[in-house]
Amino acid sequence: MRYGYFDDSKREYVITDPRTPVKWINYVGTLAFGGFVDHTGGALICRQDPGLNRITKYIPQLPASEFKGETLYLRLRQGSGWRLFSPFFVPTLDPYERYECHVGLGYTRIVSEFYGIRTEVTIFVPQGDTRAIRDIRVTNVSGQAVEVDAIPVVEYTHPDALMQFTNADWVPQTMQSKLYAEASGLKVLTQYPFMSRETRVNYFTSNYPVSSFESDRRRFLGENEYGSWANPLSLRQAELSDYEALRGDNIAALLHHLGVIQPGETRRIATQLGQEESLAKALPAIQHYRQEEAVDQAFQELQRFWDTYLSRLQVQTPDADMDRMLNVHNPRQCYVTLNWSRYLSLYQLGLGSREMGYRDSAQDILGVLPSAPAEARALLCRLLQVQRQDGSAFHQFNPLTMVASEGDSREREDRPHYYSDDHLWAVLAVTAYLKETGDLAFLEEVLPYHEKDGQGRPLESGTVLDHMQRALAFTRRDCGAHGLPLLGFADWNDPVNLPTGAESLLTANLYGRALLEMIELARQRSDQEAAKAYEATYAEMKQRVSDLAWDGQWYIRYFDADGTPMGSHTNEAGQIYVEGQAWPVLSGFATPERAQMALESVRRLLNTRNGIVLSAPGYDGFDPRKGGVTTYPPGAKENGGIFLHTNPWIIIAETMVGNGDHAFEYYRQINPATRNDRIEEFECEPYVYPQNILGKEHPQFGLARNSWLTGTAAWVYCAATQHILGIQATYAGLRVAPCIPKEWDGFQVSRTFRGATYAITVKNPGHVCGGVKRVCVDGQEISGDVIPAFADGKTHQVEVILG
Ligand code: GLC
Repeated sequence: MRYGYFDDSKREYVITDPRTPVKWINYVGTLAFGGFVDHTGGALICRQDPGLNRITKYIPQLPASEFKGETLYLRLRQGSGWRLFSPFFVPTLDPYERYECHVGLGYTRIVSEFYGIRTEVTIFVPQGDTRAIRDIRVTNVSGQAVEVDAIPVVEYTHPDALMQFTNADWVPQTMQSKLYAEASGLKVLTQYPFMSRETRVNYFTSNYPVSSFESDRRRFLGENEYGSWANPLSLRQAELSDYEALRGDNIAALLHHLGVIQPGETRRIATQLGQEESLAKALPAIQHYRQEEAVDQAFQELQRFWDTYLSRLQVQTPDADMDRMLNVHNPRQCYVTLNWSRYLSLYQLGLGSREMGYRDSAQDILGVLPSAPAEARALLCRLLQVQRQDGSAFHQFNPLTMVASEGDSREREDRPHYYSDDHLWAVLAVTAYLKETGDLAFLEEVLPYHEKDGQGRPLESGTVLDHMQRALAFTRRDCGAHGLPLLGFADWNDPVNLPTGAESLLTANLYGRALLEMIELARQRSDQEAAKAYEATYAEMKQRVSDLAWDGQWYIRYFDADGTPMGSHTNEAGQIYVEGQAWPVLSGFATPERAQMALESVRRLLNTRNGIVLSAPGYDGFDPRKGGVTTYPPGAKENGGIFLHTNPWIIIAETMVGNGDHAFEYYRQINPATRNDRIEEFECEPYVYPQNILGKEHPQFGLARNSWLTGTAAWVYCAATQHILGIQATYAGLRVAPCIPKEWDGFQVSRTFRGATYAITVKNPGHVCGGVKRVCVDGQEISGDVIPAFADGKTHQVEVILG
């Protein structure tokens, strides 16, 4: 069963049946202004922060058929009345003759036909702007002339998104709307909570005469809301009531008479939903975007942004599903995670308590470096300001206020209020940024630590390098009974929350990986002393891991405070954890034999046709001593679900032991594009990675949830491009070290790196997984597999022969 198809030439996914199993969404704009649009035109829009400055009220928990945030009604004159419908299918659910939702790069375009009317609506946010535009075209495709009205509608929320749901007294007493009618006959309907009237005003307007408007939901739906979104009673009248809401549930509905449309004729109208400090300040840009050419130009600019963004890395492999993900949808998802971290999606509701995640954003940075290094750098700077003076980091921060918090660890008084891994991910992000850009001066940039004095001034600042050194020093100090890093409240595996004193092998290995990066960086900076010191620390931790953590056929995952291992054959449940096997390979702590054995255990005990499960067997029953992981039934999320984030780590580990066949098999089995023809099992969008898929212990094995905002995006992108295809940024240049399936004849990659483009052709005449035999750059053979950074703005031909 399928609900749509990939249009590779337009770089879109096209949904052709609106009744998808769950809403499939797309993102418009950025965190600065934007949000998501679902495939039936509903939209959750906010500015700078979905928790503290939300604009539309989108309630994901309502049934799929309900109005959510925004819609468009059309009505066709029939005798003395009208036929009313929404060209988005929802909320009127009329029978459609055609329905297409084009999920594009930064835009969604819905094309539908109902009752002989074709409607095409393109929804997007102009680059760097603070408005969402809906560019609406209504065409008469019937044989007869028809009189048409168009009524776009928005429902507002209180900017404090959580307050909207927890307070039904203060919120409705403050919400107000005011009309501004221009001499031209055009109208702007403004909206704000009373206290923001002078500072922050939402507006909704169009470029077409508005004959009447409504700003109160009760009046719009009619009969004290015994009218409904599916059948708003006000739209049975000729005009809306022109009411400026003084309180209550605020909406903005604008009634436009498009007049009689002849067969084949089209009317075009564009709406703007935005926010500014004041209407006066907003007006010039409102007027600008009322011109059709301005809308067209803004849309072209958006397309140019994505052309450039994606052009930095394009591939041609023998696998079409790999190509469509690596060339379009995977880097797109990485950009979305960079913007929204785990803050706002259909599943991460952005209601304030979650915020931007420190470890999450640090990993998201890894996925955008070839295309958006400047944005990555900016986010890195924000992250490092959330680091504590002791080197550890706060778990989350609010993007608008930069106030940091301890995240879920606040839930337990008796537990540590830090996560043992957060600060270490930033070290990987900094070194990846340096390798991509060569911008070593970044290390000298001075950034504050998070602690403040009474006046809110930072107590201390340090260079980026100092921030990194403190991160490592924290973990070195913060070890438990075995000399392994203490777990803190949790490590990467969030819901395993063990009593204070537990030790984490994931953090030990992540620390090992971070140490390798620091050693390499120190050498790069000719700081031999620092390199030696880090080497000694590395050797020390390697020894401990090797002495203590081998369980016989795989690596142990944790030691409890009393020294009991978790992730061991001696446990009843949770005997083996996948991240516990990948990271000893990534850290270089595993010997080649152990690496092989650990990966074989993963294959034997954790692999399924839908992906590798996180652990097995699942914990069957709530156990407060293990924490949140036992709140899930076996096979769900971190309790033995296919938690996709971990799968690319195994892919990377397989390439590190040279097994390109396994690496690619694991890559392909989680590629969402391969699910397009069996959506009945998967249910989520086939154009993005979900966070989790129910595992083999769950009766609904194969069902995906929590799409879009997941570290899977960045890590799969890195695993595929840097480890399978093997195109790696290094301090010295661009390295080509593929590890591919033997049966491949080769592949091609175009990669822009430090101001030059590398047109790389890899040939595999001997049908091997890896091993570079010969590299030619512009026809000249070079030694080694690192191509210099030419930085000359030119394209260089690179031929690589494996064997
Ligand atoms: C979620 C969290 C992430 C965590 C992961 C595993 O994706 O956002 O921080 O590492 O779950 O528990």
